[in-house]
Amino acid sequence: MKFKRNILITGGAGFIGSHVVRLFVNQYPEYHIINLDKLTYAGNLANLKDIENAANYTFIKADICDFNKIMDIFKQYQIDGVIHLAAESHVDRSIKDPFTFAQTNIMGTLSLLQAAKLTWESLPEKFENKRFYHISTDEVYGALKFDGTLFTEETKYQPHSPYSASKASSDHFVRAFHDTYGMPTIVTNCSNNYGPYQFPEKLIPLFINNIRRGKELPVYGKGENVRDWLYVEDHARAIDIIFHKGKIADTYNIGGFNEWKNIDLIKVIIKTVDRLLGNLEGYSLRLITYVTDRKGHDLRYAIDSNKLKKELGWEPSLQFEEGIEKTVKWYLDNQEWMENVTSGEYLKYYQEMYENK
Ligand code: NAD
Ligand code: TYD
Repeated sequence: MKFKRNILITGGAGFIGSHVVRLFVNQYPEYHIINLDKLTYAGNLANLKDIENAANYTFIKADICDFNKIMDIFKQYQIDGVIHLAAESHVDRSIKDPFTFAQTNIMGTLSLLQAAKLTWESLPEKFENKRFYHISTDEVYGALKFDGTLFTEETKYQPHSPYSASKASSDHFVRAFHDTYGMPTIVTNCSNNYGPYQFPEKLIPLFINNIRRGKELPVYGKGENVRDWLYVEDHARAIDIIFHKGKIADTYNIGGFNEWKNIDLIKVIIKTVDRLLGNLEGYSLRLITYVTDRKGHDLRYAIDSNKLKKELGWEPSLQFEEGIEKTVKWYLDNQEWMENVTSGEYLKYYQEMYENK
């Protein structure tokens, strides 16, 4: 079957990537969606069970750092668009193991950029109708004070964690490929996402699961750090719009105008889980445990996404109360998914399935 476009989505077995893959597979039957993922601890093909047999979907287990393999995939599938989400994504892990973050996030991105450049330059039409869209984070901008300011597209890069430093570096490489070779690139920087299929090392799914199991809730420092939360499907919708209508070489910030101090957010999660489990209000507050702060813990992130609203008409569609209710319900209703993720069962199952393929 001849498809109108062949789009490579990297990191599609992860949290945000799985929502992006699902949206594209369902919304664009005329596109071939090629999901390339290494299936690290964070990649879980169970996230995509509902679309795994779709006629316009192909999964490839591969490492973005494997340049030769990426070159082959570009040629074999005639890739004309890339939406790049594959990354090591957890700040705490980056503090313990910065090498893996530099390898995947910097070298992996460079390997994709170079493969796209070499493949596209060799075609008669070259970069025409091609697009390399890199998904990044607001953490590259550093940290804000409690002064009401927001990150804009003009805020200077000042990453603090090894994670954000590696993402900042990859953003610079993407822009350098536009400025040097004329590659049609786009970068977006998004705030904290939440929703179904997030690996339970991140605050929201970790705490929902711990409350359900009566386990301690480790609050870093005094719980006063602020994050700006966006429902993951709203992020996926923004990616769809920007992939199709975003201006080449431009940057868009994506966020929900939805700032929460960690401890206040944690109390909302506790209240919602307790209500849905039929516990007395306030029952799980006893689980809150203040622990040693994260090293270099960024105080506050907050995104100004007005440019995206003005230029491309995107706005978050879900109110936070609705999003958190949906999210808590999803984790409580999908305990098998959670058990498989926390026990490592899914890793064994899918890694064996794709071994040597
Ligand atoms: P995730 O950790 O849930 O998923 C990452 C995926 O990348 C996994 O499926 C993993 O197997 C895959 N991967 C890792 N290394 C790979 C490699 N070398 N080759 C191929 N695949 C590899 O991450 P996420 O939260 O879904 O984040 C996706 C992207 O969005 C990342 O680039 C991240 O920096 C960015 N981002 C995340 C957030 C957030 O709140 N989660 C916010 C803004 C931006
Ligand atoms: P996280 O979900 O790791 O996202 P990020 O560090 O990328 O913002 O953490 C969100 C916030 O919650 C952050 O300020 C750190 C804090 N946090 C805790 O207090 N306890 C925890 O166990 C975790 C995982 C995070």
